[in-house]
Amino acid sequence: MSGLDDVKKLLAEAKAALSEVKSPKELEAVHLRFLGRKGEVTSILRGLKDLPDELKKAVGAAANNARQELEELAGTIGEKFKTLKIDPTFDPTLPGISQRLGAIHIINKVMAQIVQSFQRMGFAIATGPDIETDYNNFEGLNFPPDHPARDMQDTFYVEGNLLLRTHTSPVQIRVMEKTKPPVKFIAPGKTFRNEAISARSNYVFHQVEGFLVDKGVSLADLKACLVAFCKDFFGEDIKLRFRPSYFPFTEPSAEVDITCFLCKGEGCQLCKYAGWLEILGCGMIDPNVLRNVNYDPEIYSGYAFGMGVERIAMLKYGIRDIRLLYENDIRFVRQFI
Ligand code: DAH
Repeated sequence: MSGLDDVKKLLAEAKAALSEVKSPKELEAVHLRFLGRKGEVTSILRGLKDLPDELKKAVGAAANNARQELEELAGTIGEKFKTLKIDPTFDPTLPGISQRLGAIHIINKVMAQIVQSFQRMGFAIATGPDIETDYNNFEGLNFPPDHPARDMQDTFYVEGNLLLRTHTSPVQIRVMEKTKPPVKFIAPGKTFRNEAISARSNYVFHQVEGFLVDKGVSLADLKACLVAFCKDFFGEDIKLRFRPSYFPFTEPSAEVDITCFLCKGEGCQLCKYAGWLEILGCGMIDPNVLRNVNYDPEIYSGYAFGMGVERIAMLKYGIRDIRLLYENDIRFVRQFI
């Protein structure tokens, strides 16, 4: 025999059970227990006929209301599971499987650091294409027709007078042909040479070029610029050495060494016990180059420099084989993140 209190108690119990369900499966079980054919609410309704008349109506109404309320509640919970479509046993407070983030490759990172250092000195960025004309890569830069770099052995020719640029210097020609002086640019990019791959050289590498043309520019300005860069990039205590050299597009030309930042000039394995590390080529832009871009060398003068990014990255990070920079072995690459 059931009274009103039993219905109330059962309703509370069923509501509590429903509030605990965590999956559609559990919902089904609770539904079966209270509202199924042999469920507890159902059996109260079935038992109504045995109740005295004075109770029948009240208990029947209460049980029917309870059934309706529970059906609605179960329905809402069921809907929630459908829209959630997530296993509700999922615990969002558990630690997840972390995803590795991508990062900038060491070559691009070093190149960006070099570029940013010059940007802070007021250089603008210019770029040129990997495939260049023979004119921009050689002739405009005052290379004589029989220069060895123009040989098929050293340069990848594409077709006709097109080639893969062997240095970033052709960007000088591109910019100066289109821009009236003064100009002050830094040009990072890929370069290519027909070389056998070894620990020291690859057929593709990167350079950063720099050039400035204005009235009254002298070698002292070039030195001041490169000293500022080297101190910024390698450290305040670095010293520079300018060695006379030769490039067709600069006169005079120099190669710049810095004191070895590992041994501070004492001599070590990195600098091969010389105390110095060669890091770039530079010089005053040859008047022939200025004439080629219609700049009057009687009015304007300028300087230029170019450095190899791989070489600088290898020196800075103690990398002994250039091939490591291109193999994308994650164990190597990850060291520089
Ligand atoms: N283009 C030269 C090379 O690839 C590097 C270089 C030397 C660039 C002197 C310059 C420069 O702008 O003035 O070896």
